[in-house]
Amino acid sequence: MNKINIRPYKAEDRAALRTLCCDVSDRGGPIENFFPDREVAADLLTKYYTDYEPESTFVALCGGRLVGYTNGCMDNRRYGLVMFWLLTPALVVKAFKRGVFFRPEVRRLLGGMLKNWRRIFVWRKSSFHSHQGHLHIGIAADFRGQQVGRNLLKTLLGHAAGSGITGLAASVHDANQSARTFFEAQGFTVRERYPMVLVRDGKEEHYHSLLYVKTI
Ligand SMILES: CC(C)(COP(=O)(O)OP(=O)(O)OC[C@H]1O[C@@H](n2cnc3c(N)ncnc32)[C@H](O)[C@@H]1OP(=O)(O)O)[C@@H](O)C(=O)NCCC(=O)NCCS
Repeated sequence: MNKINIRPYKAEDRAALRTLCCDVSDRGGPIENFFPDREVAADLLTKYYTDYEPESTFVALCGGRLVGYTNGCMDNRRYGLVMFWLLTPALVVKAFKRGVFFRPEVRRLLGGMLKNWRRIFVWRKSSFHSHQGHLHIGIAADFRGQQVGRNLLKTLLGHAAGSGITGLAASVHDANQSARTFFEAQGFTVRERYPMVLVRDGKEEHYHSLLYVKTI
């Protein structure tokens, strides 16, 4: 088997990173499980990290294929401002142009997401509103369980240690048991639990978003 190489993100990884992120974003399954437009989803999930803070993203490659990533942010407040004032408005325009809002499943999804307003506007003090950091991580299905996630996270933690922050957080769906065990094994603990709603196949799914934090 080819060796797995972990290195900082480069602009040439952008397309593969966007694809992998969409492939794993539903607790390891594809985004299409609940959202139909990959281009819009990829902007929402990755654009801040690739275009505004690329130095905090690391990728794992095997034989030239991107098989894992961790997207990092070393300043949640900056992330919140960029998302709110720059990326979200552009994304709304793009989604309109692509007809995303005319799709009934998206309208139902957005209706459910509006119920999560507290996560953004009230609870953001401990996440979006602080100068702490956060991360997302995803490994291709055929490369899981081979220490790729552990090594990517170790690399990101090393980067975070020199960035001046004192904590790094990750939001995990409470039914995502493999991710929960993964973060707990790396020394993260649950600091907050947010009740959330997701609409899947027209039905509301109620769950808790767990905010795992590790002190740096
Ligand atoms: C969660 C995820 C990142 C773990 O990455 P990975 O490369 O498969 O994990 P590793 O091989 O590095 O495992 C490290 C430790 O995590 C835990 N772990 C990883 N996968 C696990 C699983 N399926 N079940 C239970 N524990 C698991 C174990 O403690 C493991 O240590 P061990 O090998 O000594 O038993 C990966 O499964 C993934 O991409 N999932 C889909 C996306 C996702 O859920 N991301 C997290 C939300 S941001």
